[in-house]
Amino acid sequence: MFIFHKIEELKNLTSSLSKGDTIGMVPTMGALHLGHISLVKKAVRENSLTIVSIFVNPTQFNNQEDLKKYPKTLEDDVSLLKSISKDIVVFSPSAKEIYNGNIKSESYNFGKLEKVMEGEFRDGHFDGVGTIVEKLLTIAKPTNAYFGEKDYQQLQIINKLVKIKKIPVNIIGCPIVREANGLAMSSRNERLSSYLRNEASFIYKTLKTAKEKFGTKSATYITDWVTNQFQQNKLFKLEYFTIADTENLQPLKRKSKNKKYRAFIAVYANDIRLIDNISLN
Ligand code: PAJ
Repeated sequence: MFIFHKIEELKNLTSSLSKGDTIGMVPTMGALHLGHISLVKKAVRENSLTIVSIFVNPTQFNNQEDLKKYPKTLEDDVSLLKSISKDIVVFSPSAKEIYNGNIKSESYNFGKLEKVMEGEFRDGHFDGVGTIVEKLLTIAKPTNAYFGEKDYQQLQIINKLVKIKKIPVNIIGCPIVREANGLAMSSRNERLSSYLRNEASFIYKTLKTAKEKFGTKSATYITDWVTNQFQQNKLFKLEYFTIADTENLQPLKRKSKNKKYRAFIAVYANDIRLIDNISLN
């Protein structure tokens, strides 16, 4: 397994590949868990070479405390990846290598997609994500790039990014991996006490009940119901719950039979922000 810290090293390797070889890329911020690993395994199955990038991207953090506290576990990440396949290259650059002293986001126009949910509550977040993902895709030139539905809005933003920027890559969405109690896996879960981590099953339980209700109840009814559930729960503070069209992510006003919807949620457990989503139909 190679571990590269320099863009040049990665470029040298990818340019030495044979014509028929395919590259799969899995961009991550490290502190790898089984959610990340499901993407890596799929990439390894489907490509000649898999590049896993590990880079805690400063420009996508709207909260500097969150950036400071983001877990960094490079050694463990590398040994986990080693145990999966020898055909994995880890790309772990410094901020200087990526941003060359100018730690700033590009400014994108993702249209309505960036105005809602994460875009509404995390100012500048998707410009930061767009900036790093565009850089990574341009450096590594993967055939296929893998992203989790855990960050469903991010996945749709990246679909839009490659369209706007005409980046020749297949974007592949992968299902959410959950802990045994239903909590969506996340690097931030490491920061929860074991008590809160256990109790956080409440988030997925609420989403599942919202899904059951979706057959017969309106979006407004369900949103009120979820809001009420969280008002009664003192451990978690609801930031938003939104039922939206899976394609354009606009909040549902009136159900249409031939459209697909998902429910999206963001919750605080103390200062730890957790997001999740579920398909409704
Ligand atoms: P990170 O949070 O490390 O996630 C890396 C990838 O793993 C993302 O595509 C994310 O959706 C996916 N992922 C995380 N938890 C998952 C889960 N429980 N099930 C399935 N997939 C999961 O997302 C980012 O990093 C960054 O924004 C990044 C795209 C790397 C840009 O910096």
